[in-house]
Amino acid sequence: MCAASGLPFIRADQDSVFEAVASVAELAEGTVLQRVRATGDAVCLVRHNGEISALSDICTHQHFSMSQGDLLEDGTLQCAWHGARYDCRTGEVRQVPATSPLPVFQVRLDGDTILVGPRCQRIDGRYEKSMVRVP
Ligand code: FES
Repeated sequence: MCAASGLPFIRADQDSVFEAVASVAELAEGTVLQRVRATGDAVCLVRHNGEISALSDICTHQHFSMSQGDLLEDGTLQCAWHGARYDCRTGEVRQVPATSPLPVFQVRLDGDTILVGPRCQRIDGRYEKSMVRVP
């Protein structure tokens, strides 16, 4: 039972909550790309060292678009406004002024298509990694 609505809780099929957001060809190595999901939420796709990740596009400091930032050589994503840095796979804060992690999302490939799914879980205060390797 869902406590808020009183309706039965129905677990969605995992495959049904993944949506196509871009092609692998659109996301060159070492770059970031903004895409908007069907929900209206913007995600920031990152391709680093042959792996693709999906993070919230909204900086947790003052809501600037992360896809306008820079992807650093070590896989840190830096916000263009005040310089907060996040791990591009876990969303963990690497440098202030941000103090809260960026949400990250499950990501898959279907051929050349990048699929973004549910938000990754936090386990012991850490997000599971958002990551899929490009073949
Ligand atoms: S809005 Fe991103 S660091 Fe301030």
